[in-house]
Amino acid sequence: MHHALITGANRGLGLEHTRQLLERGWHVTAAVRNPDAADALKALPVGEGKLDIVAYDATDLSSPAKLAKTVTTPIDLLFANAGMAASSTRSFGSAANADMQTEFTVNAIAPIALAEAFADQVAASEMKVIALQSSRMGSIADNDSGHGYGYRGSKAALNAMGKSLSLDLKDKGIVVIILHPGWVRTDMGGPNGQLTVTESVEGQLDLIARAYKQPAMSGRFFHVSGQDLPW
Ligand SMILES: NC(=O)c1ccc[n+]([C@@H]2O[C@H](COP(=O)([O-])OP(=O)(O)OC[C@H]3O[C@@H](n4cnc5c(N)ncnc54)[C@H](OP(=O)(O)O)[C@@H]3O)[C@@H](O)[C@H]2O)c1
Repeated sequence: MHHALITGANRGLGLEHTRQLLERGWHVTAAVRNPDAADALKALPVGEGKLDIVAYDATDLSSPAKLAKTVTTPIDLLFANAGMAASSTRSFGSAANADMQTEFTVNAIAPIALAEAFADQVAASEMKVIALQSSRMGSIADNDSGHGYGYRGSKAALNAMGKSLSLDLKDKGIVVIILHPGWVRTDMGGPNGQLTVTESVEGQLDLIARAYKQPAMSGRFFHVSGQDLPW
């Protein structure tokens, strides 16, 4: 049975990844801030799969290492999905505030802490994939509208560090892919998003399945449609 560890699995894209992987018979370790309140997650049909719900807070950089003491089996897919977009860091004039530090911790630093805590378990698995949930907003080349200081900056930092991860973990046989899920109708994406969570997650899981077979996809930044995005 393949095993995925997914952060931010209680709603939005993370919840749908969990749902679709359980449907495919995977074991999913769903890492969430508040397991007691993860009602949608607990209501998912498990079928032939297996669901474990564990506590994880991306603002606490010791959280991945603590988790690695209880989650000790190989991890085929480590999915750093949890993310935030603070409205207080959007606009020039008042963007540089403490929320931006939190945004960088959650969106950029925590995924690296996860990779550091779990790289050996990923390397011990069959698939050996680390997926980083980035955003096209983190593309410097694609920025033609300004604003979004904290979100853009933290996702650009994630992209830069994801590239390093791909090179540093190559000898372990680990493939690191950096993903833009599309503009998706979630709490973060809002009601006008172009994709449903189902469509986005199907596309992302296809890309992950391809990455497992094609290590040349490691260290690249992909739109959910499969196109390479500019840094
Ligand atoms: N939706 C889009 O259009 C879009 C586009 C590009 C990229 N993305 C990226 O996709 C990822 C998922 O976004 P989404 O659209 O599914 O957003 P969402 O519905 O707002 O879900 C965000 C998830 O991240 C979790 N999270 C936030 N801060 C956390 C923390 N400190 N510790 C642990 N978990 C935390 C949330 O947990 P709580 O419920 O506890 O808050 C929630 O599970 C994010 O990285 C986002 O940047 C989304």
